[in-house]
Amino acid sequence: MSKTYNVAIVGATGAVGEAMLSVLAERQFPIGKLHLLASARSAGGKIDYGARKIVVEDLASFDPAGVDIALFSAGGDVSKEYAPKFAAAGAVVIDNSSAFRYDDDVPLVVSEVNPDQVGNRPRGIIANPNCSTMQMVVALAPIHRAVGIERINVATYQSVSGAGRSGMEELGRQSAAMLGFQTYEPSKFAVQIAFNLIPHIDDFLDNGYTREEMKLVWETRKILGDDSIQVNPTAVRVPVFYGHAEAVHLETRTKISAADARALLESAPGVEVVDDRAPGGYPTPVTHAAGTDPVYVGRIREDLSHPRGLNLWIVSDNIRKGAALNAVQLAELVVKERS
Ligand code: A2P
Repeated sequence: MSKTYNVAIVGATGAVGEAMLSVLAERQFPIGKLHLLASARSAGGKIDYGARKIVVEDLASFDPAGVDIALFSAGGDVSKEYAPKFAAAGAVVIDNSSAFRYDDDVPLVVSEVNPDQVGNRPRGIIANPNCSTMQMVVALAPIHRAVGIERINVATYQSVSGAGRSGMEELGRQSAAMLGFQTYEPSKFAVQIAFNLIPHIDDFLDNGYTREEMKLVWETRKILGDDSIQVNPTAVRVPVFYGHAEAVHLETRTKISAADARALLESAPGVEVVDDRAPGGYPTPVTHAAGTDPVYVGRIREDLSHPRGLNLWIVSDNIRKGAALNAVQLAELVVKERS
């Protein structure tokens, strides 16, 4: 019989946890025992996994002994408290929160970009990048390797699922209320998200940027292994349920034509080019990204205002490649080490 691995999903009742479960099933991950963990309020509930119904367990009273791989997506505070305990009990922790991403002794890994870093985990913890960085670096890594990237100007258009299940509920309920000429007070988002755009994701920092914006700076440099890359980010929440989009303007070290960039991207792992220069011939969250795996790239153009400038439109499902899929791909890399 082939080897199986005992897997725990921490935050199994959340938007990312649920997608982790689907991706594990779709990719036929070799699961032995499967533990679905959440807070006490969800414990005792049942979640389907194929033909099985699995009872949700309370993380606070769970004994991690015997878990081989733990996928965490229950927020930074939960990761800080419990990930070291799971690692101490022998599990490899793949953490979707930002709790450990910037620690030197925790690798930050995108399966198509720096998979070799998975084995470099002295604390038994591997960090999964933030969703907006994830999709951007999948598309930019081949260009950086070919011609070098000096500077990245990026504006993101991020869906509400990035704010978890409660973010999706707020957009749905608020939209329905407003279409019925009712009001619905914001609680998850700082201001109304229905029919609106909010240039604010995560906390504001002293430099005037939001933490979500700084994640694009810090994480891009760490994943691409190049601290000289300059990143100028603006992160915006948009009233879309699934899928983040990014308008990315690059300045490369040596010039790359749109045609050469397109050829590079067409053969890049995890990337699908959709660039027909015709109505509908570009990726959008709804028509391409939601529920699918690739990072889609379209609108590939040379920058009219810069001799070494290149423009891209990058779209991906933030819950899948941006979180759950990459986490499972990292788990597959861990399995590969052991087989
Ligand atoms: P629960 O549903 O029991 O609150 P989302 O990002 O979609 O909001 O999901 C967050 C996930 O993290 C949920 O599965 C949630 O479980 C879980 N979670 C949040 N806080 C805790 C906690 N203190 N202990 C365990 N799980 C938690």
